[in-house]
Amino acid sequence: MGQFRDIYCGDLRSGHIGKIVTLNGWVQRRRDHGGLIFIDLRDRSGIVQVVVNSQTPVVFAVAEQVRGEYVLTVQGRVVARAPETVNPKLATGEVEVLSEKLEILNRAKTPPFYLEDGVDVDENVRLKYRYLDLRRPEMLAGLVLRHRICKLTRDFLDKEGFLEVETPMLTRSTPEGARDYLVPSRLNPGAFYALPQSPQLFKQLLMAAGAERYFQIARCFRDEDLRADRQPEFTQIDIELSFCDREMILALMEKMMAFIFSGALGEEIPVPFPRLSYREAMERFGSDKPDTRFGIELKDVSQTVAESGFNVFRQALSTGGVVKGINAAGCGCYSRKEIEELTAYAAQFGARGLAYFFVDDGGIRSPIAKFFTAAQLAGIVDRLGGRPGDLLLFVADKAETAHAALGALRQHLAARLGLMAGKKWHFVWVIDFPLLEYDQERQRFMANHHPFTAPREEDLRKLSNDPGAVLALAYDLVLNGVEVGGGSIRIHRREVQELMFKQLGFTPEEAREQFGFLLEAFEYGTPPHGGIAFGLDRLVMLLAGRQSIRDCLAFPKTASGSCLLTGAPAPVSDQQLEELQIRLTRKA
Ligand code: AMO
Ligand code: AMP
Repeated sequence: MGQFRDIYCGDLRSGHIGKIVTLNGWVQRRRDHGGLIFIDLRDRSGIVQVVVNSQTPVVFAVAEQVRGEYVLTVQGRVVARAPETVNPKLATGEVEVLSEKLEILNRAKTPPFYLEDGVDVDENVRLKYRYLDLRRPEMLAGLVLRHRICKLTRDFLDKEGFLEVETPMLTRSTPEGARDYLVPSRLNPGAFYALPQSPQLFKQLLMAAGAERYFQIARCFRDEDLRADRQPEFTQIDIELSFCDREMILALMEKMMAFIFSGALGEEIPVPFPRLSYREAMERFGSDKPDTRFGIELKDVSQTVAESGFNVFRQALSTGGVVKGINAAGCGCYSRKEIEELTAYAAQFGARGLAYFFVDDGGIRSPIAKFFTAAQLAGIVDRLGGRPGDLLLFVADKAETAHAALGALRQHLAARLGLMAGKKWHFVWVIDFPLLEYDQERQRFMANHHPFTAPREEDLRKLSNDPGAVLALAYDLVLNGVEVGGGSIRIHRREVQELMFKQLGFTPEEAREQFGFLLEAFEYGTPPHGGIAFGLDRLVMLLAGRQSIRDCLAFPKTASGSCLLTGAPAPVSDQQLEELQIRLTRKA
């Protein structure tokens, strides 16, 4: 018999009625109805019902052996289902295939979990049997969407004149950024390659090389603590262009996002995207990746309560802090226990307490109301737009802590109140980041994005005498509260880059030793350039409506960085270590 398909299961429609077809696929389910056996046959495209009648005894005997996940070839005639058996939930639900031939290509053990969408399975089991997990339609849909997004990206960038260039996976370790994954070199004992954290330096060197417009769908490696939106190896849509400014890059990237959303989801994204300065994002949303799908903005009431009798507030203000609050609108019915939960939540982000006021028809209800004058209370309510039935929550602390705690609380409340439901795509550019950030622990400045980001032209002079005040030509793209991309205009002149390294605490020797090749390239006619990189996995996660990027990679790693399927990372033989001249100080 013809062993290979001439049509996919999921593509069968009433137009095929009367045709003889050959199908390949897996058994989703087998139901035995005495003289009839029904097999739901599944392939990448979907499911179709196959019927085997006991009047064809040879086929029937094979069908009786069939179990879930067996691999079959089926040949048969497409027939219309009786009206009462039409399945409107199935794309192929109007037809079925009357099997005339049936062959088992391979048997299968009973899978460790049901291969259906929506079944609650321990993620570790799913990861161990990832090839089974990926047979579920929603997981497969994730792979398809990822493919579509990559294809659309390539199409768009190709049309805009970008060249796809591969850059090395074995490169050199550079400080700054996250921890590197190191790879020992057998031919150079004692020396190590590092896996790239991003193609940043190579894409800049490609600009020096005159490539002008580069992109790469690039694998990146970072040895950092993992979370739901972080993987040790992940993929960037990495982009760099010469002879451009920030406006050109932002406009081009907006156009690319609109192209991807339209092509992948059929949704039109309005451009240009709104913009927030870093400072405004922090002050209004308490986050540099603000979720702008809902309000609950932070309001400063420091002025209003400066003269109040509440010691906690006065103390915070007198030590240079702030008093800021949010309006949990409609939460006036919260119980003491619920307030305690919110307080504990805010405490995780450093808040030492959470002051609260209930707004009632009659005025304000709060254990601390007595410390405020009527005018102060009215001022607070007014500042937060409080109305009867609202709950006002305040943190008094250093601005940093107040922002972090209220920013997190704002997100927490929105989730609790279901404020994101039905909200679509809320993009925002965050711009004007500080170039440098002072690290108390290391007692020096650190680059906010990376050391190659250019300061704003007008701030260049401050770089030597007031580095903390310099704003960068950097930008992040935030979508629904997730940082999906980040980039900047780069430094392209040696003296500015050297000054930057100096402010980051490098001696001239260290800078030359680690980045000499870049500094040298700047002396041979490097054009002004800039770029951006998007987190592909995060984009797929958002477009697919998933909560974790683990669901958007074919073979992800666990929170401790292991692959449960292959068992990586794993010990290696003594001989391998010997060749590399590596001795372990402790056996695994
Ligand atoms: P950055 O470090 O901001 O910039 O990374 C760019 C984007 O990559 C995604 N991303 C991650 N996704 C999954 N897991 C991770 N561990 C992870 N880390 C980052 C984020 C982020 O916005 N070379 C610069 C870009 C540039 O300046 O052009 C860079 O790597 O979505
Ligand atoms: P206390 O004076 O510690 O009994 O606190 C009285 C109220 O003020 C409680 O509701 C505390 O949660 C709240 N509170 C304490 N410290 C702070 C702070 N730093 N910011 C906001 N509220 C606070």
